[in-house]
Amino acid sequence: MQKKIAFFKEAIKNIKTSGSVMPSSKFLIKKLLRKIDFTKDLILVEYGAANGVVTREILKKMSPNSKLICFEINDVFYANLKEIDDKRIVVLHQSAENIESELRKLNLKNIDYCISSLPLAMIPNEICKRIILNTKKTLVTDGLFIQYQYSLQYLPHFKESFDAENIDTKFVLLNFPPAFVYNCKKM
Ligand SMILES: C[S@@+](CC[C@H](N)C(=O)[O-])C[C@H]1O[C@@H](n2cnc3c(N)ncnc32)[C@H](O)[C@@H]1O
Repeated sequence: MQKKIAFFKEAIKNIKTSGSVMPSSKFLIKKLLRKIDFTKDLILVEYGAANGVVTREILKKMSPNSKLICFEINDVFYANLKEIDDKRIVVLHQSAENIESELRKLNLKNIDYCISSLPLAMIPNEICKRIILNTKKTLVTDGLFIQYQYSLQYLPHFKESFDAENIDTKFVLLNFPPAFVYNCKKM
């Protein structure tokens, strides 16, 4: 409960960049991670990790040789994430649009999955498009860009980049607010 209250306080102060006042529910997190093959050693990226509710679930499921790179622009959330004591995580105080240059700094070229909680509706269109395209470039073939949103407003942008037949959309009622999860596969 304390974590939820802390999230609420920080998120409401920064509603234009947080886009939500409640962390993801366990039902939403389950849907977000359901297509990830955690039996393999993976390079995963998380955008908008915030208080780490999704991050911690990913870490629980990841193999010992997998790596998770988190992007978070909020100072307080970034500081919280830095407290996670796990050798497999790298927390960056960076915007998601810098994915390519940040991966280069880490000597990484490609990623297997990107899990994104970015509030796309709050981010200028041009930046959204850049984030989606830059992320697609870094994904391996068959890699997934997994994004949740509270509406289908951004589906056309994903279709533009990934093609409709490579996008699987699921609805999660048990979340506040209810959410859509897009799984976009790079072919
Ligand atoms: C809805 S909250 C995500 C909360 C958490 N991941 C969850 O699912 O409960 C969105 C987060 O995205 C972060 N954010 C917004 N724009 C960003 C950007 N361009 N790059 C990285 N993080 C960003 C915000 O600071 C905020 O913490």
